[in-house]
Amino acid sequence: MTVFVTGGAGFIGGNFIHYHLAQHPEDRVVCIDKLTYAGNLTTLSPVMDNPNFLFCKLDICDREGVFGLFEAEKPDTVINFAAESHVDRSIEDPGIFLQTNIIGTATMMDACRAFGNVRYHQVSTDEVYGDLPLDRPDLFFTEKTPIHTSSPYSSSKAGADLLVQAYHRTYGLPITISRCSNNYGPYQFPEKLIPLIIANCLNNQPLPVYGEGLNVRDWLYVEDHCKAIDLIVRKGRIGEVYNVGGHNEMRNIDIVKLIIHDLRKSEDLITFVADRKGHDLRYAIDPTKIHNELGWLPETKFQDGIKKTIAWYLENRNWWEEIISGEYQNYYQKMYANG
Ligand code: NAD
Ligand code: DAU
Repeated sequence: MTVFVTGGAGFIGGNFIHYHLAQHPEDRVVCIDKLTYAGNLTTLSPVMDNPNFLFCKLDICDREGVFGLFEAEKPDTVINFAAESHVDRSIEDPGIFLQTNIIGTATMMDACRAFGNVRYHQVSTDEVYGDLPLDRPDLFFTEKTPIHTSSPYSSSKAGADLLVQAYHRTYGLPITISRCSNNYGPYQFPEKLIPLIIANCLNNQPLPVYGEGLNVRDWLYVEDHCKAIDLIVRKGRIGEVYNVGGHNEMRNIDIVKLIIHDLRKSEDLITFVADRKGHDLRYAIDPTKIHNELGWLPETKFQDGIKKTIAWYLENRNWWEEIISGEYQNYYQKMYANG
């Protein structure tokens, strides 16, 4: 089987490629990635020499390039991770989010249709559901929760998600969709909360916490997300949406303190900064459907996953120090200037 993985030089796509090649060594994996600021080829260096792996630098919006690659490689399955993924950047500059997340998704699906109705999986997000109130711990996102977005990022992901469902209903494209909660683990770009806090702790830099740090996210170790996607692609029902999450809700401030204590740093590093515009209050996934239908359950407990993650950032300083010393510095100075 030949599998196209888009966005494989990013955080989750990269972890997925490592997982897939280890679990299914008989498959050929072709990674399509534009290598934006968030893409990092070093993430893929452990598999670059694998004869069953091919890296292709390509924009998923580049119709001619995408169709050419389909013609040459004849994929059986496409898994679309490629996206602009950072909420704060979408608030600063929404345009590229609409382009990559919506037009890119349509382009990949058009190619799937043109080359024999190729099986397509869309990596969507729980952010398409908007948020839940902080004082209603009894409420969770189910697959039936209405789409109701807050940021340009989540709106662009919702647009893509709806388009995927439309391609199934209108053209009969064999699709599935996964909507996962916040991931953490190795190879995550240090603009996202957990790696940013780890990196700043290690560099004794201020730890920016938006508002009062009371917003809640539902954290899942990245490998558990990869396993869920693999299961859905192989055994999921065509046309269906599956929520993915491990009932691991935590307030941002508690995550930050946990990392501080693990690294034996001081809470004096915490700096409360201006809140994110339109900041979603709480995400919480109900994963009953994927558990009942596909037997998926998260395997890594948060206390183990966060230790593994911190250890990874300690052992792989070169990976993230190279990132934060480059162009990222300009973004960081602009973003946190008034902190
Ligand atoms: P990421 O930002 O780390 O990686 C995105 C990758 O996509 C990068 O390698 C980038 O170079 C590539 N890319 C961007 N635009 C492209 C284009 N036009 N053509 C080809 N490649 C392009 O993102 P991530 O955190 O790994 O997220 C991956 C997917 O999972 C996204 O679709 C995101 O919406 C979704 N998701 C993320 C989370 C999370 O917690 N990070 C949770 C649920 C869903
Ligand atoms: O829920 C899934 C989503 O999770 C994915 O769809 C997105 O691609 C992914 O980026 C993530 O979105 P969040 O906005 O939840 O993640 P982020 O790491 O940016 O922020 C997590 C929380 O931490 C959020 O409440 C904002 C807060 N935060 C973030 C940063 C970067 C801070 O308090 N300080 C910070 O400096």
